Amino acid sequence: MDDTTVALPVSRQAWSPPGRLNGLPPYPLADVPDIKARLLAEGRTVIDLGVGDPGLPVPDAAVETLREAVGNPALSKYGFQRGLPEYREAIARWLGRRFGADVDPDLEVLPVIGSKEAIALTAFAVLDPGDSVLVPDPGYAPYFGGPYFAGADVIRFELRAEEGYLIPPDAIRRARGRLRLVYINYPNNPTSAVAEISYLQEVVEACRERGAVLLFDNAYSEITFDGFRAPGLLEIEGAREVGIEFHSMSKTYNMTGWRLGWATGDRRLIGALRRVKTFFDTGAFMAVQAAGAAVLEDPDEYIRWNLDHLGRRRDAAVAAFQAAGLDVTAPRGTLYLWFAVPGEEKAEDFCRRLLIDSGVVLLPGSAMGPGGEGFVRASLAIHEDRWEEAGRRIQEAL
Ligand SMILES: Cc1ncc(COP(=O)(O)O)c(C=O)c1O
Repeated sequence: MDDTTVALPVSRQAWSPPGRLNGLPPYPLADVPDIKARLLAEGRTVIDLGVGDPGLPVPDAAVETLREAVGNPALSKYGFQRGLPEYREAIARWLGRRFGADVDPDLEVLPVIGSKEAIALTAFAVLDPGDSVLVPDPGYAPYFGGPYFAGADVIRFELRAEEGYLIPPDAIRRARGRLRLVYINYPNNPTSAVAEISYLQEVVEACRERGAVLLFDNAYSEITFDGFRAPGLLEIEGAREVGIEFHSMSKTYNMTGWRLGWATGDRRLIGALRRVKTFFDTGAFMAVQAAGAAVLEDPDEYIRWNLDHLGRRRDAAVAAFQAAGLDVTAPRGTLYLWFAVPGEEKAEDFCRRLLIDSGVVLLPGSAMGPGGEGFVRASLAIHEDRWEEAGRRIQEAL
């Protein structure tokens, strides 16, 4: 050992990142926080349309219930996987109202700490190393991350505008290898595409034929416009046996930071996921589950109120971006505008230039997979009154 080696901290000698970390996709625009900080230090204002977090107030019932629940010592204990029975029962009633389904709150519902973690962990409940998985590209990070860490063969299916950003059922039939899991998400992040129930039926059928589990991420089921009503697996005869569906309090009730959601579906899958999760976590804070239960029991006035706000934002956003010369159309679901980069730049370069020149943060489509290259996502994250300014700034930077 020479002197230099001896001088190194032990941790630096002993540890280097595993190869598996190097196999993760790079994150375009990892420097956004630094650029933002620099702009703010220069006294400029930043309009952040990067993250899908509208920042609207949460339902009163959530705040009031949580306030009381944190004072209850019984709710400060570990929730474990089954969590608060009242939360699971409220979920079952909510699903009954929304999808007309009869769901067993003990065996067919699993509380999760926000849906992201459990969407990723489902891979461990379903896959053996080497099994193949079909994921949308662009798509939400855990669809790739969970299967990747589980040692699966991840097949990215490139979503295309001309196919309505849907994964054609035949792509499921033709996917290579021992296909065991298919991730589907509509209303879709980031493309904002929606799917009809007939499409979901076909996907269920294709998954059944292949012997694959369908993971249907329905995080945006309640964020739809112009009278469109998003479908769910529970509405389709026999689909429950093929799949697992995720819901989140994050978008429906603006509770992103509260970290609460649920999975529902086939009881063997729910049981397997519960088993996996016992090795990773100890359940969501039960006071938060109590708040979740109170919110879900409320009549759906809050959802209407939320959509009213988001709908006005959407209209203001579309008008402002069209006036700026961007090729946007009004989405029928989600919190996102998805549009082509004007000109020849790569999405990442376009977004970085725009941020520096205009102070507007946008997400390059490539941040959500190579299939998102050439596109940009803008989130409905600001009040309806601010879109004109956002549009003007973009126009000037263009
Ligand atoms: C497609 C999709 N699924 C699920 C979620 C919900 O995440 P969580 O429940 O972890 O907040 C999001 C949030 O951005 C999302 O975009």
